[in-house]
Amino acid sequence: MAETMQGLKRTHRCGELSAKNVGEVVTVMGWVQKQRNKGGIIFVDLRDRAGLLQVIFEESDCGKENFEKAEKLRSEFVVAVVGKVEKRAGAVNENLATGEIEIRATEVRVLSEAETPPFQIEAESKTKEELRLKYRYLDLRRPDLQNNLILRSKITSTIRAFMDEEGFLEIETPILNKSTPEGARDYLVPSRVHPGTFYALPQSPQIFKQLLMCSGYDRYFQIAKCFRDEDLRADRQPEFTQVDMEMSFVDVDDVIDATERMVQRVCKDAIGLNVQLPIKRMTWTEAMNRFGSDKPDTRFGMELCDVSDVVRGCGFGVFTSALENGGSVRGITVKGQAEMPRKKIDALVEFAKGYGAKGLAYLSVMPDGTYKSSFAKFMKEDELKVLVEAMGGEAGDLLLFAADKTNLVWSVLGALRIEVAKQLDMIDESKFNFLWVTEFPLLEYSEEENRFVAMHHPFTMPMDEDLQYLDTDPGRVRAKAYDIVLNGVELGGGSVRIFQSDVQEKMFEVLGFTKESAYERFGFLLNAFKYGVPPHAGLAIGLDRFVMLLVKADNIREVIAFPKVKDASCLMTEAPGEVDPSQLEELQIALALTEKTEE
Ligand code: AMO
Ligand code: AMP
Repeated sequence: MAETMQGLKRTHRCGELSAKNVGEVVTVMGWVQKQRNKGGIIFVDLRDRAGLLQVIFEESDCGKENFEKAEKLRSEFVVAVVGKVEKRAGAVNENLATGEIEIRATEVRVLSEAETPPFQIEAESKTKEELRLKYRYLDLRRPDLQNNLILRSKITSTIRAFMDEEGFLEIETPILNKSTPEGARDYLVPSRVHPGTFYALPQSPQIFKQLLMCSGYDRYFQIAKCFRDEDLRADRQPEFTQVDMEMSFVDVDDVIDATERMVQRVCKDAIGLNVQLPIKRMTWTEAMNRFGSDKPDTRFGMELCDVSDVVRGCGFGVFTSALENGGSVRGITVKGQAEMPRKKIDALVEFAKGYGAKGLAYLSVMPDGTYKSSFAKFMKEDELKVLVEAMGGEAGDLLLFAADKTNLVWSVLGALRIEVAKQLDMIDESKFNFLWVTEFPLLEYSEEENRFVAMHHPFTMPMDEDLQYLDTDPGRVRAKAYDIVLNGVELGGGSVRIFQSDVQEKMFEVLGFTKESAYERFGFLLNAFKYGVPPHAGLAIGLDRFVMLLVKADNIREVIAFPKVKDASCLMTEAPGEVDPSQLEELQIALALTEKTEE
């Protein structure tokens, strides 16, 4: 039978005690990390969220009954211990905050016994993640996860304090919604009261925050749960959290300024990092040209080089035909890697093909000045020389080229640049490189849908000087949209919003909505604009990503208490699950499942 805490009150958390407490009688409570019985003396490491504490049991201090209880302690038992804080008799443990002290126990109570856990509760667990996620409540006892979540909590308090100081109001917006326009698939919730209709969970609070501006709230923020049914990656979850904000009577610079000061405060409070303001800005075009990415990792160089003009008219058909088809030829120079083994180069070619490239042309400038190349035979000696020079190539370098439509070349080389840098250990992991990417294109052409789609969302304001092209040449219109990037990860994004009904209607037209369909989906916003709307702008930061990057975790799951796995299921609760037929009946829903084919 478990004992109770009756008559005992915890005085300290285990990890909070230090040499300052020597001589005090304390009561601590926590989980047994480890029990070691050395005959007449028993050592117990006691753990709570503040850390580990060594407890010593000797019969002469605690009496027979308590000593016998201590003998029976096993890992993960929950116990209360009363005892005196002493300087450690044995060696000081420098790895522990409490390493200089120990507790000499006078009483122990077993509050809860524990079965042997399926894996050991320890930092940097080697246990397979599937098993840990199945028993997430045990996994969450591990100090690394606890530290991540403690830091996350600290970050949200910092954000709340900052936003409050800056005059932002925290306002909640609904979870049961009509579809929101962030471009991912919605999660739907069937309505019982209105059979055959569905709520959509918010992909973001976008429309509501704009309506709050229409209602005069001036500055809004929310730590908002968002839901997107999209393919998961290391930095994506189907439900995630945004630090979402919106401001009235502002332009691009105001949002950037507020955001970067918030980011600066968080970095300082959370990890003592000093972020220099203002954060560098780069236009989208520059980011694509130099890094092949709208979220460049600027912790290393190896920038892209456009050699289209250099290879125009050369003898290599792959290059010339890409140019004839309106594309471009670009490359990266991998310093000192001329002698990269063929097998490794072939693997890079395959990597490039994974991003849609038809191939990857390479040229090694050998130390003796000769070339080893997949295409040198098609080009004249002087053409090669000019090409190498244009790339800034020297003896010993490996040059990699992609030739295709420019968008594809960018994405192939952008990804390749990161891959090569990883393989060659070129990334300084101690750096935190923040960057604003600005002036995104307003629209991108979707070959699939045969129409323009909004690059950010349909409420984003075109740049003033490009507004004139919205009718005639929508592809060239740049937007007042900006992303904040950290170490090659998109941390957040936002835009100045359209606040004139006529521009908004035009935007919907360009996106292929009829007036009716636009009103059907977003009528409440368009109508709200008819009753006095302030110019407004905002942004949302992915909180999970921010915490992930600050703690240098390589997966977003490390900073979310109960995350989902790749197929969007939860290994612990086994959600999603089937429901009771009576629930479906109530919702008037019949399932029309197709048989799963065996793989
Ligand atoms: P956006 O769609 O760019 O903008 O989202 C903002 C930020 O949210 C984070 N994020 C995610 N994090 C984890 N898992 C996901 N599936 C996921 N999807 C997005 C990213 C991203 O930068 N309403 C606009 C913001 C605005 O215009 O004010 C919006 O949602 O860090
Ligand atoms: P091929 O003449 O098709 O055998 O190609 C010769 C070399 O060019 C090979 O190394 C291919 O990988 C490479 N290559 C093919 N298509 C492309 C392309 N679109 N961009 C860059 N290199 C390519």
